[in-house]
Amino acid sequence: MKKGLAQTVMARLEALGRITDEPGRLTRTFCSPAMQRANQLVNSWMRQAGMTVRQDAIGNLIGHYAAEQRCQAHEKVLLLGSHLDTVRNAGKFDGPLGVLTAIACVQQLHEKNIRLPFAVEVAAFGDEEGVRFQKAYIGSTALAGTFDARDLKRTDAEGITMEAAIRDFGGNPNQLASARLNPDRLLGYAEVHIEQGPLLENKKLPLGVVTAIAGQTRAHLAFNGRAGHAGTTPMALRRDALCAAAQLILEVEALAKNQAGLVATVGALQAFPGVSNVIPAQAQLSLDLRHPVDDVRRSACAELRKRARTIATARKLQVHWEAVSETAAVQCDSRLSAVLGEAVKQHQKSLVRLPSGAGHDAAAMAAIAPVAMLFVRCKGGISHHPEESASEADIRIAIAVMGDFLQRLAALHYEKL
Ligand code: GLV
Ligand code: MN
Ligand code: MN
Repeated sequence: MKKGLAQTVMARLEALGRITDEPGRLTRTFCSPAMQRANQLVNSWMRQAGMTVRQDAIGNLIGHYAAEQRCQAHEKVLLLGSHLDTVRNAGKFDGPLGVLTAIACVQQLHEKNIRLPFAVEVAAFGDEEGVRFQKAYIGSTALAGTFDARDLKRTDAEGITMEAAIRDFGGNPNQLASARLNPDRLLGYAEVHIEQGPLLENKKLPLGVVTAIAGQTRAHLAFNGRAGHAGTTPMALRRDALCAAAQLILEVEALAKNQAGLVATVGALQAFPGVSNVIPAQAQLSLDLRHPVDDVRRSACAELRKRARTIATARKLQVHWEAVSETAAVQCDSRLSAVLGEAVKQHQKSLVRLPSGAGHDAAAMAAIAPVAMLFVRCKGGISHHPEESASEADIRIAIAVMGDFLQRLAALHYEKL
């Protein structure tokens, strides 16, 4: 393995880390000006690695490295990749690591003038985090053909519709079906991602193979009460929407603490009118609920819905519950993961398999292809935070493993597996 590739990936992570919509911190959201600049840069790196590049109708960037000549007539495709969008005040590794290691693998093939019996495509998805439109996996669901066109009407914080944002970005919201990949051509999807948790670090291992991705529910809630004067309205007469939200938030935490494997988060909260001397008439909050077993997640969700209604009734409020998204738990493909596992064993002393609590583009791609994921050790288990980091040494091993994985698939004449 050439040392240069991991160094290049580190330098590119830094370069992308400087491309932000918010000065002073890394925030890059779907179809934003920063995403435009990120796509330009990633496009140039894909071309340097010998790929032809297209931007699809929803704004994903896709690099294509053709199969060897004799396989081009009925070319199959192995898709690699991850996302280029970030959370607010993000780290540099969540998403871009998977895109850049994939480009490095293709670069390696290109430099050695190697073609495989299948094409390798690299997807740089425009949205996985769902920050701008409160809707996750916009990019990968478009590729999988599961994007719900009703979401085009969603608006961001400035009132811009998703439809308009896609058009301004150079996409075409009327042609989203053209972004869908043909499942018959797709051999599989493989994603490298920072672990975002502490397990690999605890085991002192650079890499792990993912077994499954937890299912998740996202909802948006609004408690509606009545505004009033903070100085003159007696406590007994108030219909304070924010107090109801506060009560529910603690119930969310308690429920998750009492159910093994359940994680639940209220990450956004807003009070209206939002001034210190007015009783809040409305409180809006987000809910993110995850569990590896779908039934457990669904019944926890139903329980919280019931508790929200109980709280609202007791406080003489209304509550509105909007389901934003639901992603079922996804099992990684056993055959593809076994090949990845064999590659890992060539490069580290033991193979560790672990589930993912975080959502990944692989969860959306599983609708049309077998998926596998490689986790890279993450310093302190910290993620969705500017201190998120992975070492150059571990990234070097990840690139080597992915290169080995591609060679193994080629040697197995993968389409015949
Ligand atoms: C994505 O990072 C998610 O799991 O929310
Ligand atoms: Mn993330
Ligand atoms: Mn991610």
